[in-house]
Amino acid sequence: MKIRVLNQQDMQKVFTMKEAIKAAGDALAMYSAGNTDIPLRANINVAEHGGNSLYMYGYAAPAQALGVKIVSVYSGNAAKGLPVVPATMVLLNSATGQVCALLDGTYLTRARTGAVAGAATELLARKDSKIFALIGTGGQAEGQLEAVLTVRPELEKVMVYSRNYEKASAFAKAMEEKYGEKFGVSITAAHSSEEAVKDADIITAVTTANNAVFDGTLTKKGVHINAMGSYTPDMAEIGEYTVTHANKIYTDTNEGVISESGDLIQPMEKGTFKESDVTGELGQLINGTVPGRESDDEMTLFESVGTAVLDIVTAQRIYERAEEMNVGSVIEL
Ligand SMILES: NC(=O)c1ccc[n+]([C@@H]2O[C@H](COP(=O)([O-])OP(=O)(O)OC[C@H]3O[C@@H](n4cnc5c(N)ncnc54)[C@H](O)[C@@H]3O)[C@@H](O)[C@H]2O)c1
Repeated sequence: MKIRVLNQQDMQKVFTMKEAIKAAGDALAMYSAGNTDIPLRANINVAEHGGNSLYMYGYAAPAQALGVKIVSVYSGNAAKGLPVVPATMVLLNSATGQVCALLDGTYLTRARTGAVAGAATELLARKDSKIFALIGTGGQAEGQLEAVLTVRPELEKVMVYSRNYEKASAFAKAMEEKYGEKFGVSITAAHSSEEAVKDADIITAVTTANNAVFDGTLTKKGVHINAMGSYTPDMAEIGEYTVTHANKIYTDTNEGVISESGDLIQPMEKGTFKESDVTGELGQLINGTVPGRESDDEMTLFESVGTAVLDIVTAQRIYERAEEMNVGSVIEL
């Protein structure tokens, strides 16, 4: 059995952000059309080592994509100089059931999480958007930035905010060097979230926060917001004001967001928001079964908790391209 092994450089060589955005949209469209089998993720607690191991798996028949992403959370790894969240994608040949590829799961997650926000932004943000506010400068932030710049190349300015100004400045400087000229955009750090969001046409929050990371009353009419960080009922980075004033709310998967994201669960528990206020899944919008933005004044919100369908479809497309181009190394078992 031959297994192709793809690291970050291999994946970047064969797959662009534009292709990742297309893969993310296609994956959610397949999911919302009912053409996929995505079980709930399995979680194994490895108590004696203070670790958790999560298995996110599924099958997307239209893409012939079958696989499992293994993501573990071992907080003690930091002291050993190892990644705290190691991740690997195992892809199978859907016709034979044999493992056909191993991919760097950390890079795959960054690419597909950026890409899904890119797909939402492409469909929902106003075409004349000029200013983008990015809140959070952690592992996911660069993918989020690259995806939004890819779908709205007319953007002129990016304001980056995180709790630590020095960290936000260093991130903004590195990103300006990498993407500033390519996309004709200035990328600078903001001293406050108010400064970042008040003129923004697009806002992405990608944080581990438990409370709103910006004041929703300050945002502009017609803003599009991507809420990427919250994935437990305790986490909420988008305040109640935004959730209850958004004209349209989309999810990556309704089931995942309604059961996991504190952004929506907390206002639901207070009785200020109900499940039927969700417009629908992004895949439904792509499939034309729910409406999209209907005026330049509407506020649109995309809520994401992540789903294995994004991993398997994106990984399959990367693998197919790597096979064609003979990139990566091949091991024999
Ligand atoms: N939707 C998805 O598919 C998906 C995929 C991967 C990760 N995530 C989630 O996205 C979040 C961010 O991931 P990451 O890998 O970048 O995490 P990270 O730990 O590397 O970075 C977290 C960032 O959040 C910022 N932050 C935390 N609290 C804040 C606050 N109150 N105000 C402002 N900023 C604050 C931190 O300063 C940091 O910049 C996590 O919750 C992660 O689980 C979602």
